[in-house]
Amino acid sequence: MAIDKDLQGLQAGNPRHIAIIMDGNGRWAQKRFMPRAVGHQAGVKAVRKIVEYCAIQKIEVLTLFAFSSENWRRPEEEVSLLMSLFLSTLQREVDKLDRNNIRLRFIGDRSAFSDKLQIKMAEGEAQTQDNNALTLVIAANYGGHWDMCQAFRQVMDKIAIGELKDQAIDEQLISRHLSTADLPDPDLFIRTGGEQRVSNFMLWQLAYTEMYFTPTLWPDFDQNSLEEAINSFKGRQRRFGHTGEQVLAKSITQ
Ligand code: FPP
Repeated sequence: MAIDKDLQGLQAGNPRHIAIIMDGNGRWAQKRFMPRAVGHQAGVKAVRKIVEYCAIQKIEVLTLFAFSSENWRRPEEEVSLLMSLFLSTLQREVDKLDRNNIRLRFIGDRSAFSDKLQIKMAEGEAQTQDNNALTLVIAANYGGHWDMCQAFRQVMDKIAIGELKDQAIDEQLISRHLSTADLPDPDLFIRTGGEQRVSNFMLWQLAYTEMYFTPTLWPDFDQNSLEEAINSFKGRQRRFGHTGEQVLAKSITQ
């Protein structure tokens, strides 16, 4: 989506799109002298609660970073545990999402996943495609660099066959070729687990997103924690390059 260039929507209300890096599963388990797998299982429970809360709060889009392009570097055992967890979660949850009018989407390079998982992902998307409450986007084998590369490749291919002229390349055109083309950019980015970095997540789309970092480990991140993050967001003034005075003047005349 293009950046708001006028003064509409500068006073932060409820975020339309929340994007989360769910960090801290491993440490949560280690603190309890349990294997990291237990932390990931607890992470799935936290996902369920946060999805429920976002649906109740009428958030339009929730994007969760479930597996990055770089997570393949983890020990083989952990990668394979995460893969079976994705599969079993999908098998268990898709009908529930559907009943709750939630649309499921995946972004990322899914070609690296097993056929079984890819089929389940496609089925989950197809089953929920007409739902219009929350859109739940799972970023799996996703990286911001990957997203830009695949967008540039599509654009170059269109130029090569004469469907596009290179003069047509602008910010909107690139946005329309990203994996999030039909979604608003995130308003609020949350990272749990204490690290303060973006880790190759939605690099283009986060240009004007409000950032919120919390030391809370992902399995402990509950509805109150999300409410706190949303309240912090609501207290912010979004300027999109304008001055604070312009924003205030606009909100007074509205
Ligand atoms: C980061 O914690 C978490 C992950 C890499 C995986 C996230 C996966 C889930 C929450 C479960 C599956 C989710 C879905 C949507 C099915 P970490 O392992 O890096 O924790 P650490 O920093 O404490 O080691």
